[in-house]
Amino acid sequence: MSHNDQVTLESKDLSKTYYSTDPPTQVLNGIVLSVKKGEFLVVMGASGSGKSTLLYNISGMDRPTSGNVFLEGRDLTSLSDTEMSRVRLTRMGFIFQQAYFLNNLTIRDNILLPALKAAPKEKEIAIARVDKLMERFGIAHVGQHGTTQVSGGQLQRASLCRALACEPSILFADEPTGALNSSMTVEVMDALTDVHSEGTTLVMVTHDPACAARADRVIYLKDGLLIDSRELGKWSRVQAMQREDDLLAWLRELGF
Ligand SMILES: Nc1ncnc2c1ncn2[C@@H]1O[C@H](COP(=O)(O)OP(=O)(O)O)[C@@H](O)[C@H]1O
Ligand SMILES: [Mg+2]
Repeated sequence: MSHNDQVTLESKDLSKTYYSTDPPTQVLNGIVLSVKKGEFLVVMGASGSGKSTLLYNISGMDRPTSGNVFLEGRDLTSLSDTEMSRVRLTRMGFIFQQAYFLNNLTIRDNILLPALKAAPKEKEIAIARVDKLMERFGIAHVGQHGTTQVSGGQLQRASLCRALACEPSILFADEPTGALNSSMTVEVMDALTDVHSEGTTLVMVTHDPACAARADRVIYLKDGLLIDSRELGKWSRVQAMQREDDLLAWLRELGF
């Protein structure tokens, strides 16, 4: 099989069925997807359409029922759990709607935790990298704060720092602004746009067209099927409104 080095993540006939329900729930149905290196891809679709499940299965958090997922040409579905954990820790970053920080640690220590786990002997390097990230995303001054002493926007920027601390080649975000007000949403989207502009591949689920308008490409899921996709081209702030309007028109046609 020839492998296009422009493609960083690929799924082939990816299906997922949950057998814990009676009858079983078929959630993903033969998803074929390829994400280019450096691309910012957004996944949209109604609630329950399978967006989170797709993200979990392409990122090795869960295993597909059938089909394959390739990261940088390597078949993730063939890896053992230990190998998969290592790939997730060193090659991938994750952000969710909530930060899932430990309440007994400071913001900075929470951010540092996975980087120290990934490379325990390189503590000084990890600390330097984390401090630089916190500076870059404007949260250096809250590093010693507890997790309840910062705003939601600061907490999500801290999750972003944690996700980037191991220098992942790909970042997955599942509704990263889902619990934020509009000004915090802009803070977090500005940070993600910045990360993407530096070359990190980004796959994000969102239901917010204004957030989705920042992507290079949007794909649309319906009942576990990838039914349509739209190339938006390179993001620019001056075109933000136009992009959002175009996206909304397309989403309406799809019944969003
Ligand atoms: N662990 C699970 N067991 C059984 N059904 C699940 C499980 N996780 C998700 N589902 C079902 O799969 C469908 C898609 O869920 P999900 O991927 O979370 O959708 P979305 O993120 O688009 O809202 C839903 O019908 C949901 O109820
Ligand atoms: Mg979801």
